[in-house]
Amino acid sequence: MSSYIINGNKKLNGEVKISGAKNAALGILAAALLTDEDVTIENIPDVRDINIMLEVIMGLGVSVSRVDRNTVIINSKNMKTTVVDDMKLRNIRAGYYFVGALLGKCKSAKVRLPGGCDIGARPIDLHLKGFNSLKANAYIEDDFIITQADELIGSNIYLDVVSVGATINIMLAACLSQGITTIENVAKEPHVVDVANFLNSMGANIKGAGTDIIKIKGVKSLHSTNYSIIPDQIEAGTYMILSAITAGDITVKNVIPKHLESIIAKLLDMGNNVIVYDEAVRVIGNEKQFATSIKTMPYPGFPTDLQPQISCTLSIAKGDSVIVESIFDNRFKYVNEIKKMGAVIEINSNTLNIVGVEKLNGSNMTATDLRAGAALVLSALSAKGTSKIANIEYIERGYEDFENKLKELGADIKKEE
Ligand code: EPZ
Repeated sequence: MSSYIINGNKKLNGEVKISGAKNAALGILAAALLTDEDVTIENIPDVRDINIMLEVIMGLGVSVSRVDRNTVIINSKNMKTTVVDDMKLRNIRAGYYFVGALLGKCKSAKVRLPGGCDIGARPIDLHLKGFNSLKANAYIEDDFIITQADELIGSNIYLDVVSVGATINIMLAACLSQGITTIENVAKEPHVVDVANFLNSMGANIKGAGTDIIKIKGVKSLHSTNYSIIPDQIEAGTYMILSAITAGDITVKNVIPKHLESIIAKLLDMGNNVIVYDEAVRVIGNEKQFATSIKTMPYPGFPTDLQPQISCTLSIAKGDSVIVESIFDNRFKYVNEIKKMGAVIEINSNTLNIVGVEKLNGSNMTATDLRAGAALVLSALSAKGTSKIANIEYIERGYEDFENKLKELGADIKKEE
């Protein structure tokens, strides 16, 4: 396992180009299997989760040609199996998108249960409910999700809980079904909309993505497309928060500001100055952050994937802050790590009570998951002294060129194998 060695207490300044959205790319890669024609995907982030997904896709007999670091051409006309049992799937969450795609295209799938960040119970009951509503027989047996159907018949599905994964997976299964499928109480995240737009670019008939109801009219087949993935909302938010925690001046480029509204609102609450351009956002960090309260919510609310980063920033705010994590039930594992830096944080069920301190002090810590790892890096860059953060492989799952992008902003960071 590798570590970062960070010398903190520096204001970070400059520009950072945001990469393609990991959580859109993962659904889009599975969606590419729904046609036998060439699918060209641009602006795909070169991160571990994506590369694992591509390796698993190749293992199915699907041709994957890497045009360049961020562009792939996928063709699944020679796909040789609908059994996806690659052990690498234990390391990522999005393996379950193979179920929706293979069920949608081949009416059968057997996929190893997903892994992914340990941020609480991550059931897939809503995915199975959706597939069964489409008249598939979907169930979990041993370590696999298994499903088959004679025909997939459109149906009305209500998601009890807003779920990004279930929304995307049911779209994948329904777009080649017979008739009309309505999914209610869907996730509206930018990456969900991007997968819907990608499927429509292949000839699917999906309406309402980004609203509470998605309506899918099944079509006979899907065709080739050339599609560019949207910028990563969470990567952008991470660098915006970095400017706040280091009282720096950072411009995130190649973003869609509309996707960042909840983050901009909170950073303004905390006393930072934010300037919004057409495809960039500049955050001028305040010397001292103001305390605030935040509750994570499905989009367009404040993203759970930025909860660790903003909580660590509030640990050096002036005053007391309250954070409610309403999406996952165990997304505070980083708190014990940042307490080593002097943060004063109390966990009460799904709520953090933070008492702001003057400054954090460098310490030896361990990343516990992707976004928590990023939050510890942000904290170390702000803290006095030197920090060592172990298990940074978690961070490499979702942040392209993380170390280099930070160095270009003036960070004193180096990787130790
Ligand atoms: C996606 O996970 C993202 N991962 C997560 O990002 C993100 O935190 C999450 O959406 C919420 O935005 C990917 O896109 C690969 P959910 P997902 O289904 O789809 C419950 C990152 O850092 N639920 O929206 O697994 C679930 O327990 C990762 O990039 C059910 O109850 O999340 C949770 O409480 C971490 N039954 C809530 O819904 C189900 O069948 C939201 O989960 C499915 C979910």
